[in-house]
Formats: sequence, C-alpha cells, structure tokens
Amino acid sequence: MEYKDKLNERIELINGALKEYLKPKYPERLYEAMNYSVFAGGKRLRPVLLLSACEAVGGDINRALPFACAMEMIHTYSLIHDDLPAMDNDDFRRGKPTCHKQFDEALAILAGDGLLTMAFEVMLEAVCRENERSFAKAARLIANYSGSEGMLVGQVVDIESEGKKIDDKTLMFIHDNKTGGLIKAALMAGALIGGADGDTVRNFEKIGYNMGIAFQIKDDILDLTSTQEVLGKPVLSDVRNEKQTYVSLYGLDNAQQDYETLSAGAVKMIGDLGEKADFLKWYACSLVNREK
Ligand code: IPE
Ligand code: IPE
Ligand code: MG
Ligand code: MG
Ligand code: MG
Repeated sequence: MEYKDKLNERIELINGALKEYLKPKYPERLYEAMNYSVFAGGKRLRPVLLLSACEAVGGDINRALPFACAMEMIHTYSLIHDDLPAMDNDDFRRGKPTCHKQFDEALAILAGDGLLTMAFEVMLEAVCRENERSFAKAARLIANYSGSEGMLVGQVVDIESEGKKIDDKTLMFIHDNKTGGLIKAALMAGALIGGADGDTVRNFEKIGYNMGIAFQIKDDILDLTSTQEVLGKPVLSDVRNEKQTYVSLYGLDNAQQDYETLSAGAVKMIGDLGEKADFLKWYACSLVNREK
C-alpha cells in the first residue's frame, strides 16, 4: 500500500474512534462544541505519530488507538483555549470560526475542559482493561508532557513573553514545551505501548525534541508567509500579539535553515530505527514541505 493511502487509513481509524468517544449525551451543547472543534479539520499529527511510533517498535496499533485519540483530545483542547480572547484571541481555526466564536467563551472553556478530562478517562479505561504497566506509564507520561513539564508551561511562558525581549534559551523553552510537549508525548507513549525498552523510549524523546521545535518554527514561518485560506487560521496573529517567535528573533532565512536542519535530524534518527519505522520516516519527511 502507498504510504499516502496508509496515512489516510490511519486518519480514518482515528476519526472513527473519536466519533465513538464523542457520541452526544446530555447536555447536548457541550458535546456539540467538543465535536465541532475536534471534527473541524486538523492534520491528526499527534495521534498519527503515536500509532506510528508504536508500529516502529513492533507494537499493535489497535491497542494504542485509545491513547492516539486521547492525544488529539488534549491537542484540540489546547487549541480551543489558545484561541480564547484571554490568550491569542483568534477567530478562525481549522477553517471555521473558533469554538468561542461559534458558541461562547464559557462553553469554549468548558468544551476544552471536557476534552482534556475525557482524554484521561479514555486512557485510564485502556489501562484498566489491558492491565499493563506500560499503558499506565504511557498515561502518566502524557499527563506530564501535557502539563507541568510540557504544553501548559510552554503556553504560560509564551503568553508571559508577549511584547518582551527574550533570550535564545527562553524561546527554545517555549517551543520545546508548548509544541514539543505533545509531540514528544505522542512518540514516547506510542513506543511504550508498543513494548519498547527505556533506551528506545529516550531515543523517541530526542526525535520528538527535534520534530517539536521544527514544527513550531514552521508554524511561526507560516504565520508570516501563508494565507488564512490555506492555513485555516489567521495569519499575522503572532505579529498582532507581539509574540516572540523563531522568526522575530532570528529572521526568516535563519528560521528556514534551522527548520530544515532540525527536520533532517529527526528523519535521520527515525531512519536509524530500521525498517519497521519506514512509515514514520516517510511521514516525518512529508511534514518538511507542509503548507498548513
Ligand atoms: C497547531 O497544531 C498548533 C501548534 C502546536 C503549532 P497543528 O498544526 O497540528 O494543528 P491541526 O491539528 O492540524 O489543526
Ligand atoms: C500554540 O502555538 C501551541 C499550542 C499549545 C496550542 P500557537 O499559538 O503558535 O499555535 P497556533 O498558531 O495558534 O495554531
Ligand atoms: Mg499561542
Ligand atoms: Mg495561537
Ligand atoms: Mg502559531
């Protein structure tokens, strides 16, 4: 099967499972808002990485599926909250009005909370069912990288740095956490569930570090060079918010160069994992020229 078809098949698997988890219940508006944001679009990067890391170490991706869905729920919650007026104040996301525009701020906050909480419910359900230590470890790792040592703290420093001059180290901290957090978590949790040993999991952390920073550099570049039609979210949002980005610190050319170096580093490390990682390698390569 062509890699492209395999990717689409994987995305369909994830979307099908997400639909089941997000079946509407009472109160309808809450589930409507959660479904709205999850199914507005999105590349499904993190769940695809999780499944593909699991595959790359010889694991069964079907057993990893609840964790893949949990990653997308956490990611979507982070986007809903990131777009709120108190944060980046953006009106478009995934080609549609943001959750707080489509519904209202209170429901957007609560829909984000709902997705975050459901993610842990879904993971812990799998932990109980499978009764495997590695599954519990994966859930703990995802909690850690989503919160106190990952996405959440990256978001805090990102917001606190608006309009300020920050140094290289702070910028790397922001990128590695706000974006790298979930990317590292996806890769490492996928490897854990697939049965990888400690060294292999640590290897995936290094891959995720490179991939995460690269992904955010590209996001910073696209904020300046793309269009809302292509991206599905507003451009020049970083400029409006006086964000400290890779481009504002180092300029567009350096950002592009470092982006390519970091991406190549990630691809090389995945290549070293051997044949079972072929799809993951192809996927990482395909991200390099992404336009959204
Ligand atoms: C956007 O993530 C937020 C960042 C961390 C840069 P994605 O670019 O993966 O967004 P979707 O999921 O495809 O909408
Ligand atoms: C946000 O980074 C990363 C998140 C944790 C949501 P950005 O604020 O640059 O993401 P976009 O550009 O709004 O998607
Ligand atoms: Mg932001
Ligand atoms: Mg934003
Ligand atoms: Mg951005």
